[in-house]
Amino acid sequence: MTKRTFGVIGLAVMGENLALNVESRGFPIAVYNRTSAKTEQFMAERAQGKDVKAAYSLEEFVQLLERPRKVLVMVKAGGPVDKVIEQLKPLLEPGDMIIDGGNSLYEDTERRTQDLEATGLGFVGMGVSGGEEGALKGPSLMPGGTASAYQELEPILVKIAAQVDDGPCVAYIGRGGAGHYVKMVHNGIEYGDMQLIAEAYDLLKLGAGLTNPELHAVFAEWNKTEELNSFLIEITADIFTKMDTETDQHLVDLIMDTAGQKGTGRWTVMSALELGVPVPTMYAAVNARIMSSYKDERVAAAQEITAEVGTFSGDKQTFINQVRDALYCSKMCSYAQGMALLRKASQEYNYGLDLGEDARIWKGGCIIRAGFLDKIKAAFTENPDLPNLLLAPEFKQSILDRQSAWREVLVMANQLGIAVPAFSSSLDYFDSYRRERLPQNLTQAQRDYFGAHTYERTDKPKGEFFHTQWME
Ligand code: 6PG
Repeated sequence: MTKRTFGVIGLAVMGENLALNVESRGFPIAVYNRTSAKTEQFMAERAQGKDVKAAYSLEEFVQLLERPRKVLVMVKAGGPVDKVIEQLKPLLEPGDMIIDGGNSLYEDTERRTQDLEATGLGFVGMGVSGGEEGALKGPSLMPGGTASAYQELEPILVKIAAQVDDGPCVAYIGRGGAGHYVKMVHNGIEYGDMQLIAEAYDLLKLGAGLTNPELHAVFAEWNKTEELNSFLIEITADIFTKMDTETDQHLVDLIMDTAGQKGTGRWTVMSALELGVPVPTMYAAVNARIMSSYKDERVAAAQEITAEVGTFSGDKQTFINQVRDALYCSKMCSYAQGMALLRKASQEYNYGLDLGEDARIWKGGCIIRAGFLDKIKAAFTENPDLPNLLLAPEFKQSILDRQSAWREVLVMANQLGIAVPAFSSSLDYFDSYRRERLPQNLTQAQRDYFGAHTYERTDKPKGEFFHTQWME
């Protein structure tokens, strides 16, 4: 038997689908799963007639692979990844490489890369986006870590990744945990997009009284626009058409309003706080999921604090268009925050990120894939040192053209009593970022007043600090 080109450990759905994707591009593969019953099931149900060889021990698995061995680990992030690495390490030889395709925390990836590189092995922490379907047919891949290992993997990765007009959705992201960092921020942006869409839905359904078929039509229409055309808008339109077979009602109305989260959105916000990068839209999105989880308390509070949600009484089509503009402006702010975070992380951790290329990789395969990413790529290609996306001429103009609609939507939301945390946070971001002078002169005065923390003066050179005896 010829040796296998590529090995996959972990046969949950993402592992299975990536394995089949690799095999479908002409690479013989080996698979291994801790529970052999799962391996047997995969071999019987999905690997029939395919160039797949199953192993029932790690020793056997490793022996099946050609050198340098390429082992993709698709197990739960955290402890399970370390466990597999520890088991594999003594079985591998210098030059072999482990790829972690889960949603691992970038700091774990940094540590694992250092550990494995020190033993002569390669480690590639690879963000994989696109869900089950993407994994099988072409995901967006964000590999970082050992550069030489990436070189070995590249011929396979470029074939299994989603393909867009300007190439496969994969590129070497950067050293250490860079790949997982970029995937984490992708997910933070995903949270922001999803929350913004949820708020648009709330305004249109609760505020303007649109029915599910009308909502379907609105989102389907938006998906045809250059600004909003995207996977998330497309699936949103679809969701409004799905009927529940049991009750014959719209399924979306039967789904409990408590959002789950596995942690990548929270990690993005935590990292942003640590690096001192404002990401209010993503923060609002994480908070909104947390608030949604307080279902029992909200139900009880709704009985106690009874305030009717108002109904919109103006021209519906005008309102729909304004919500569309508000959504687009907010989205631009959210991406501006995400890209600014990537820039700062790249400086701080020496990732050497290419922001234009990162945006390009997201054009296909991933959850945030959207026509709009072309513009982001172009903005950073034109000016790689762009400090903030909002300053790119096209983005700046797009917001200026739509900002009155955006503000009107927020006024309306406030009047109706519909919470729009991500829309509001985005506008706050815009209004703060473009202000030459913010009210933090007062904050500084207070800090100096109660704690002698000192302040700088507008009429003296930067870096000179003053203290005043505020109390006479
Ligand atoms: C992707 C998704 C994927 C997954 C997230 C969702 O890019 O394919 O982001 O990674 O759906 O884990 O995370 P939450 O459970 O936190 O929403």
